[in-house]
Amino acid sequence: MRYDEQVDQLTLLGSLRGWWKQNAARHGAGAALRNFCGELWGYLRESTPEQRRRRYGDIEYDWEHRVDTTSATLDWRARLLGVFHSPYQATEPALFQEMMAALRVDFAEFLFIDLGSGKGRTLLMASEYPFRKILGVELLPELNQIAQENLRKYSSADQKCQVLESICGDACEFQFPAEPIVLYLFNPVSESGLGRVIGNLERSLIENPRRVLVLYHNPEHEEMLASSAKLKKIGGTHQYAIYEAG
Ligand SMILES: C[S@@+](CC[C@H](N)C(=O)[O-])C[C@H]1O[C@@H](n2cnc3c(N)ncnc32)[C@H](O)[C@@H]1O
Repeated sequence: MRYDEQVDQLTLLGSLRGWWKQNAARHGAGAALRNFCGELWGYLRESTPEQRRRRYGDIEYDWEHRVDTTSATLDWRARLLGVFHSPYQATEPALFQEMMAALRVDFAEFLFIDLGSGKGRTLLMASEYPFRKILGVELLPELNQIAQENLRKYSSADQKCQVLESICGDACEFQFPAEPIVLYLFNPVSESGLGRVIGNLERSLIENPRRVLVLYHNPEHEEMLASSAKLKKIGGTHQYAIYEAG
């Protein structure tokens, strides 16, 4: 089976089962049940018209570029899947520019990868830098489909990279191409999932030593990167962390 065909069968029940297995194994069944009720309550609160209106707060990018990257228009199923995996939230443009400036690299040497790319806003924003290529990997087929549509529609006088692709796949199974990479992570996976991503990256670095920068936005599980023997912190703020290998 091709990598991008593996998640065609992403169902709510399967996602709930996976979430439960992981939580119960980690915290015990009682705590998992409490967590589940908490998540469900959070989901219901987020479903009110007020909260939906609040989510439209990130619509400016879409108006400016005539694309659909806001989290406000997600249907109930995509939002519920977000509870069991990681909720979709697009990166804020000004912060993305700040993070790109902080990288201090020759973009033309690098492949930009966003694991958990959602509707593809970061892919579009990254295309304003001269990356060799830009790749997004998104678990939810419906978000990946919207991302692909956005990539087709997007046109900007500032675009410097024209080689953009969005594929559907599980970040935890992703095999890194053997080339210099800027890896972008905005909390796509749980702590254990991040462990698998880092494990795959470390194996890839052992097989093909090269420059890889990891840009971790809202670094909830930064300790996982900090404990990798292959990665070294080279910068960041309270909003992001930059690690480098090679
Ligand atoms: C916080 S959003 C970030 C979206 C995008 N990277 C951005 O910065 O605009 C996290 C995304 O990760 C996706 N996701 C969750 N689990 C994933 C997995 N195992 N593999 C790939 N993507 C995943 C979610 O569906 C969601 O779109």
